[in-house]
Amino acid sequence: MKKTVSTFQNAKENHEKITMLTAYDYSTAKLVDEAGIDSILVGDSLGNVILGYDDTLSVTMEDMIHHTAAVARGAKEAMVVADMPFMSYQASIYDAVINAGRLVKEGHANAVKLEGGKSACLQIKAITEVGIPVMAHLGLTPQSINAFGGFKVQGKSEDAAKKLLDDAMAVQAAGAFAVVLECVPEKLAALITEKLDIATIGIGAGRECDGQVLVYQDMLGMFNDYVPKFVKQFAGVGEVMKKAFSDYAREVREGTFPAQEHTYKIEDEIIEKLY
Ligand code: KIV
Repeated sequence: MKKTVSTFQNAKENHEKITMLTAYDYSTAKLVDEAGIDSILVGDSLGNVILGYDDTLSVTMEDMIHHTAAVARGAKEAMVVADMPFMSYQASIYDAVINAGRLVKEGHANAVKLEGGKSACLQIKAITEVGIPVMAHLGLTPQSINAFGGFKVQGKSEDAAKKLLDDAMAVQAAGAFAVVLECVPEKLAALITEKLDIATIGIGAGRECDGQVLVYQDMLGMFNDYVPKFVKQFAGVGEVMKKAFSDYAREVREGTFPAQEHTYKIEDEIIEKLY
């Protein structure tokens, strides 16, 4: 059965953990879905892990729609959440509603995610009012990397912690169905989780969040440009892939691949007539 916003709400109420992973293409989405993960995030982290940018700022609506549509075709049960890319919602409420609509209509997302607290509440309210569920994203919000001056843990001072809590209450009041907390001290994330009626999804926010999300290349050990402290590598897929690629290259060079079992047959008389 397709997971929905009710899956998130029921899990929160029943104290069951919510599972979320990123995916950016059909075959990965299918594997994530078949593994029983509740929700797939088509994150704008695709800028880093798929497109090779240094940050997420260059990701476009076209990029997001293209990848979201591929993921949606592979996600039979998992709820697909698509990130709204930088400048697709910040400038106006009109932009926010139109672009959220495109992610649902053209990308077949089930919900959208956007970064920001009080400053994004008018957008969250307008998007939810047209019937599109919104996941908020607080703490380390990579689209504000130039304002933050680097990837740092957020909400550590009293003022910053209070602002984060206020922002979380504000996005809930604006209609968000869940909120991602990225790079937030564990005790602050626990407090926010306790205060909110909607689910918190942590990434580098400790053990007490209602759910967890990771970038799949990080948790599979496929992306080593930068490995944050909060990442656990559940497998060494990068090394397995590299070995398979070099085994393939060696066998092609040696002439041991393809072997007979990888070839197609034709009657000898037909070939003889062509000589
Ligand atoms: O873009 C992304 O993958 C994200 C997660 C890190 C939460 O926003």
